[in-house]
Amino acid sequence: MDIKQRIESLRALLNEHNHKYYVENSPEISDQDFDALMHELEALEREHPEYDDPLSPTHRVGSDLSSLSGFEQVEHIYPMLSLANTYSIDDVDAWVTRVETALAGQKATMVGELKFDGTGISLIYEHGRLVRAVTRGDGTVGDVVTENVKTIRSIPLQLKGEGYPDFFEIRGEILMPWKSFERLNAERAFNEEPLFANPRNAAAGTLKLLNPREVARRGLDARLYYLLGENLPYDNHYDNMKAARSWGFKVSDAMTLLDSVEAVDRYISHWDQARRELPVATDGLVFKINSLRQQLNLGFTAKSPRWAVAYKFKAERAATPLRFVSFDVGRMGIITPVANLEPVLLSGTVVKRASLHNEDIMRSLDICEGDTLYVEKGGEIIPKIVGVDLEKRPADAKPVQFVTHCPACGTPLVRVEGEAAWVCPNRWGCPPQLTGRVEHFVGRRMMDIDGIGEETSEVLFATGLVRDIADIYELTRDKLMGLERFGEKSADRIMDGIEASKSVPFERVLYALSIPFVGETTARRIARTVRSIDTLMAMSREELEAIEDVGPKVAESIISYFAAPQNKEVVERLRRAGVQLESAEADAAVSDKLAGKSIVISGVFAKHSRDEYKKMIEANGGKNVGSISKKTDYVLAGENMGPAKREKAEKLGIPLITEDDFLRMIE
Ligand code: IVH
Repeated sequence: MDIKQRIESLRALLNEHNHKYYVENSPEISDQDFDALMHELEALEREHPEYDDPLSPTHRVGSDLSSLSGFEQVEHIYPMLSLANTYSIDDVDAWVTRVETALAGQKATMVGELKFDGTGISLIYEHGRLVRAVTRGDGTVGDVVTENVKTIRSIPLQLKGEGYPDFFEIRGEILMPWKSFERLNAERAFNEEPLFANPRNAAAGTLKLLNPREVARRGLDARLYYLLGENLPYDNHYDNMKAARSWGFKVSDAMTLLDSVEAVDRYISHWDQARRELPVATDGLVFKINSLRQQLNLGFTAKSPRWAVAYKFKAERAATPLRFVSFDVGRMGIITPVANLEPVLLSGTVVKRASLHNEDIMRSLDICEGDTLYVEKGGEIIPKIVGVDLEKRPADAKPVQFVTHCPACGTPLVRVEGEAAWVCPNRWGCPPQLTGRVEHFVGRRMMDIDGIGEETSEVLFATGLVRDIADIYELTRDKLMGLERFGEKSADRIMDGIEASKSVPFERVLYALSIPFVGETTARRIARTVRSIDTLMAMSREELEAIEDVGPKVAESIISYFAAPQNKEVVERLRRAGVQLESAEADAAVSDKLAGKSIVISGVFAKHSRDEYKKMIEANGGKNVGSISKKTDYVLAGENMGPAKREKAEKLGIPLITEDDFLRMIE
């Protein structure tokens, strides 16, 4: 076969397997086999740049365009409208009646769909190839975000099957699945970056990043729900969307034909509950008239089609009095206002506190002392203040003021230009910052020093034993045992943990230092590229920015961190204590004995901790996954494995292996 043909067949094969994995959720080949094909294609494309194609699956990882200054704007071919909202079954029934009246008594079949809670996208395809992706913008003009959208693997770059028009538009929603959202926010919490309030904001924010590689990393997904164009294959929405599915688009399985008001009611009752199990956020349902002819007859109002309506799910909401607003100080000095509430039950949990995030958000809610606040479980997870019950506002109520001085140390706060956060600049004297950094340093994913939690780090600080992270290495058994409530056992545990932490690899040490904006992933990337703290400390801004994942903000933060004499001194003391400040060669993968294997860890073990087993799986090329599915290869089973898990593994025929079996496998 000639090279060009091989390149084309590899692309087709990779597109097909990509579709199986990301759209159908049923992979047919292992990740390893997929990677092997990808590597072959990458190599051929490198050797033969004349055959490059911007839509080749090799470009899904996204280029690093951080130098891009903005997005081009274009006018939508058809304006992107919104939908009229309804809030009850009665509202929906009234809409059906209105539609049938407008259609002079004709019966109308409807299509029920989920209302996906992400950010709208318009995709243009020409001759089966994605040519442009545009955000909703103001409905008339949007931003061209094609490079970012190309990294979303559930969006086909090249269509399959047949019957698609030469030119058409398809619309849908870009989503951040709950899993990606939680991972992203956990990362941001560690870095003390502002959290995204919900997956919708996270998806919209991500789509507008100027760095496609970062977009690729964040794990976006998509659902498509509206086909537009001159030569659509069918005269009704449902069949057109099914055709779109056959061309490779991710069209939700929840899409159903509904031919009566009763069927609509059943659909609503079903999804009101079932939506809680979905991997992505939804905020309601959408009902559309199926026939395109009837759609045409019904037409549009200025804002929305008459042939469709949204039904919004009720978010669980409660009203409760505000006790006071407190101000938390994080380990990077960021001040977070928190509403302390009269406890109230919401979606099964008692809510007492809710973050108000920052001054701007607090102000926009217009909260006064003595107010009664509405709390919602935003996306069923984090309680969120959504407003004030103005009727209950006391007559002479005063707005809650944001503090001007640090509530912990009294230092005047500063606001960094371009950021929403107020910061206490007293990095080396403000108690919660000092103890917060110690707590972070000893945490499980950092130095993993057992026995020092929040309380202990406060005691160690109060007694003057530990003010910075290097002081930890000057602790002794005797010093610890001199503390109240400290026995031999707890002192030994801490001393053992400190000793063991001296072999924690450099990448985790770097993360443990609490350099602003250097999270777990960034620290790993830097450590693997730079390999020693001395090299890192000597690097210029330009050299830093050349590292993958490091933009101007991170580079600036690293430079100012190491410019501070206090930090330099801490690093020197850590070096003397024997902490790893260089990457050892052995940090890399040990073997590929478990390559392509998905392994679930369950129960407790005698020889190593669960975390150690996790590391061993990864070091040997395997993947540690959380729950058992038909894709699991083994369950590493310890004592006290739950009966439900055992039953599931047996039912799916997944082998249970003991820790000895496992250790033999990687020997
Ligand atoms: S149809 C002309 N279907 O909701 C109307 N929209 O509030 C075309 N949305 O702008 C939209 N899921 O971003 C449609 N199944 C669905 C949807 C959906 C979510 C979004 C879309 C739209 C907004 C209107």
